[in-house]
Amino acid sequence: MAYDISPLSDHTGVEVHGVDLSKPLDNETRTRLNQVFVDASVLVIRDQKLTADQLLAGVRNFGEVFPQHNTKFALPECPQIHYLSNQDRYPDGTRYIPGAGYHTDHSNAAEPPKATVLLAIELPDSGGDTQYVNMQRAYEKLPAATKQRIAKLMGTHVYQSKHSARKLMGLTDEAKKKVPDAVQHPLVRTHPESGRKSIYLNPIRIEEIEGLEEAGALDLLNELLQHATQEKFQYRHSWQPGDFVMWDNRCLLHKANGDYDHAQMRYLYRVMLKGDRPV
Ligand code: SIN
Repeated sequence: MAYDISPLSDHTGVEVHGVDLSKPLDNETRTRLNQVFVDASVLVIRDQKLTADQLLAGVRNFGEVFPQHNTKFALPECPQIHYLSNQDRYPDGTRYIPGAGYHTDHSNAAEPPKATVLLAIELPDSGGDTQYVNMQRAYEKLPAATKQRIAKLMGTHVYQSKHSARKLMGLTDEAKKKVPDAVQHPLVRTHPESGRKSIYLNPIRIEEIEGLEEAGALDLLNELLQHATQEKFQYRHSWQPGDFVMWDNRCLLHKANGDYDHAQMRYLYRVMLKGDRPV
């Protein structure tokens, strides 16, 4: 298959032209794209015209589907694929912008998803970028004393942290039975494929840090978040129709931007891939 790959920033993201995920990939292409994904953390494959079933087949080139906790947004015709839409509302009637505020997906699972994939179906004329921060870079640039301080710390992750500034959509009763009450993950995790370390935190899900007082834990988390979200660690993805974007939850935070005309539709398919227990 003839395709080309080019970087989207000097540390995060590559774009691929010439791959068609509606067709099976040969082994060489599949291996190369999986490697490029690990190296770049955000893999953008342009110009994909895929049905939900084709998307499901396409993502299986990169792993196994992770069952999403909240089944509220499942597509009836293909429940393993969910949708993101700016037209949904909280029960109190306010608009719900899924994914606003930096986070990593489903870190309240014992084995959180390694990757999340979005496929752009309908986009506003401008705005609605997804912002990523590279937590490997951020970790590497921490002062040595901070690295030492956080090396052995464990964070407790829950569905919705009491400290979260963002309100999540409530879980269905069925989902509540499946979601663990709390899990512990290291604040510094090592990527199972690249061996690189990154800061692993999640402002919407971290409830506490083992062994620290609440105020001290919050100060530390804020300090790490401030450091990690500096512009120099960011890649900002400006969507094009047909973008297939897969990001690595093991070493990135991401957030959606609600900075566009909400009368215009923003609608994407979403699916996650199974991952390992963070170590
Ligand atoms: C998400 O957090 O999964 C949503 C990202 C986006 O809509 O840009």
